[in-house]
Amino acid sequence: METLILTASGEDIKKAADIIKKGGIVAFPTETVYGLGANALDEKAVAGIYATKGRQQDNPLIVHVASQADVARLASGVPGVFGSLAGAFWPGPLTLIVRKSRIVPGNVTAGLDTVAIRMPEHPAALALIRASGCPIAAPSANPSGRPSPTRAAHVLGDLGGKIPYILDGGGCRVGIESTVLDISGGIPRILRPGLVTLEELRVVLGAVETDRPAASAEAPRSPGMKYRHYAPKAPVTAVLGPPGETAEYIKRRMGEGCAALMFDDFKLDLPCVVAYGPSWDHAALAARLFDALRELDGMGASAIYAQAPAEVGLGQAVANRIKKAAGDNVVEL
Ligand code: TXA
Ligand code: MG
Repeated sequence: METLILTASGEDIKKAADIIKKGGIVAFPTETVYGLGANALDEKAVAGIYATKGRQQDNPLIVHVASQADVARLASGVPGVFGSLAGAFWPGPLTLIVRKSRIVPGNVTAGLDTVAIRMPEHPAALALIRASGCPIAAPSANPSGRPSPTRAAHVLGDLGGKIPYILDGGGCRVGIESTVLDISGGIPRILRPGLVTLEELRVVLGAVETDRPAASAEAPRSPGMKYRHYAPKAPVTAVLGPPGETAEYIKRRMGEGCAALMFDDFKLDLPCVVAYGPSWDHAALAARLFDALRELDGMGASAIYAQAPAEVGLGQAVANRIKKAAGDNVVEL
């Protein structure tokens, strides 16, 4: 099939919504990354998402809604903290895990009794959900294992020929995926860090836990977090620590075939170094990260070193994605 890039407005939204209504799949922009969407209440359509992405069947999807009221029929019992969280952060990059209702097909949640729900902020995403007349299940619009797409061209390169339309909303403002917060029972727990930070959630909730599977015998509660992700073809080494030291570490190791991802203000003056923003501007780093990883990928390097920010605030989410790209290959200075 030929994949067409459409605008993210007007008639084009209607065309994409017609595909969703018929049980098909389209890619659309959100403020975080592009999503690969289908009718969340149609089990067959959802199966198509897994097939198109090559996604493991045990990794559940996020259901996107256009209003807080839509949560009532997707959840079985809305937790007390839902209202204050949605009031503070919706629409926006916060996904909430709640107990699922019976109308949510089992393949959306990969058999779990909880469902992930998010109201995106991007006007095209909201318009698409409204025009489709159903909640939209959507993972990031990349084949499993690849960096999430932050531009329509990324989606076309990865999934061209497999879907009819990509709605082009330009570059994604946030650039990394939503914060995933489990409020289905007990103390709320962050399963995936994102733009909505631990510190901000504490202001609203008081107690919040973070998922640290490495430090516990428990399996990660977010199935997706156990897979190596965002991975360029070359092995990545994540380098954490004070930026002066991490830059020096990378400098000593840059030899033939090496490439590096570095902060603007510590960038080595070498051709195969990609800068992704100032060391102190974590929002800029997040917005550029996946695009920069794809650029490094295109260089055909045999080894990639990545300078990661301090793990506070939004820096935690950026460092998390770099560590995921690196698998176990993490150096802490
Ligand atoms: O920003 C985002 O969240 C983007 C845009 C498109 O909305 N979507 C996204 O979806 O990143 P995906 O499928 O790439 O990541 C969803 C994550 C996975 O780590 C998955 O395991 C987790 O959410 N997840 C989904 N449902 C869950 C559930 N019921 N319990 C625990 N984790 C869940
Ligand atoms: Mg993803």
